[in-house]
Amino acid sequence: MKSGFLDKLIDRLDKLDPGSLQTHFLQLASDKGLLETIFHAIQEGIIVLDGEGDITYANRAAEKLLGFRLESAAGDSISRYLRDIDWELVLDLDEGEWSRMVSREIEVNYPEHRFLAFYVVPLSLVREEESGAVLILRDITRDREHGEKVIESERLHALTLLAGGVAHEIGNPLNSLNIHLQLLDREIAHLADGDRENLGELVDVASQEVKRLNQIINQFLRAIRPVEPELEQTDLADLLGETLRFMRHEIEDKSVLVEKESPDDLPPIKVDKAQIKQVFFNIIKNGLQAMTGGGLLKITISATERFIAVAFRDSGSGIEPESLGQIFDAYHTTKGEGSGLGLMIVQRIIRDHGGEIEVDSEPGRGTTFTIFLPPCL
Ligand SMILES: Nc1ncnc2c1ncn2[C@@H]1O[C@H](COP(=O)(O)OP(=O)(O)OP(=O)(O)O)[C@@H](O)[C@H]1O
Ligand SMILES: [Mg+2]
Repeated sequence: MKSGFLDKLIDRLDKLDPGSLQTHFLQLASDKGLLETIFHAIQEGIIVLDGEGDITYANRAAEKLLGFRLESAAGDSISRYLRDIDWELVLDLDEGEWSRMVSREIEVNYPEHRFLAFYVVPLSLVREEESGAVLILRDITRDREHGEKVIESERLHALTLLAGGVAHEIGNPLNSLNIHLQLLDREIAHLADGDRENLGELVDVASQEVKRLNQIINQFLRAIRPVEPELEQTDLADLLGETLRFMRHEIEDKSVLVEKESPDDLPPIKVDKAQIKQVFFNIIKNGLQAMTGGGLLKITISATERFIAVAFRDSGSGIEPESLGQIFDAYHTTKGEGSGLGLMIVQRIIRDHGGEIEVDSEPGRGTTFTIFLPPCL
């Protein structure tokens, strides 16, 4: 349907007989119908604006992305639906500036939280005498989220490799220190009684410290090395019970009351028992450390068709919103004696199991960590 054809048709309108007029009319109606069907089938949102920036047309995808119906939104200013953009500037732009302004990415919160890429084509580029513009929107939320996950896991991977390398390197001088301390110990045996005891004690202290360092490094290397989970059918409630029994002295010392809730008909699940116990342990330990003056730790297991969830709700100090984004980072700690690795390990294990972890916190009131694990298929 070329506009040239329409122009010619309009010129000849008064010369056409009613029969051919009807044929042309039907042809145009069917072309319009086809174009409209294509228009609505396009995944990208398309909005046509007049010279004032008011909506004159929109396809289904645009209605869905921005949460409006054309029937009621026609005539509304586009700035009602896409804020934070200076539409006057966009619509007044001279051609030289189009390339800078036409393509943008924005975040919208209604009707859903989404990232949209959009670009604006001024209609004057197509026909000089036209004013207004066409707006084309694309939902890039999934690309963005996927991109962020990839970056995050690559960053973690790089950091892990680096940390692993350093820890490994420290192992060699430590070994050498250990051997030299043993040699020193042998030399001391030849000394006079008083000197032997004094120096012997010092060497003992040094040996103990070297031993402790060695243990820390081994634990660290074990923690960061990705280990394939060895899956076996498990009752999560039993696993939780075992972890709590293991931690009972610490729980009593902190005057914390633990409440457990679990349905009788939990679907079967396959997990690496040792790893999931480590997850429970790290989360519970954080909860206990956050409840300095005693408190309540409520652990709820629940199940849907898609996952089994374990929620740990403590009544502790909570986490400030600005720190929430960092708690899974390696070495992020607010504790004098913390290593800041606990939650990083939790996240790694849960992801290796195909699960997810969520955190929700209110400063001064408490924190809830919820892990979601897929049940056996
Ligand atoms: N339940 C919680 N309540 C309040 N803050 C928490 C809670 N869980 C974690 N945090 C915060 O997140 C930080 C990181 O936790 P993470 O377990 O990774 O390290 P850590 O506990 O400091 O050290 P460690 O490696 O010994 O576990 C903590 O230092 C704390 O600030
Ligand atoms: Mg911790």
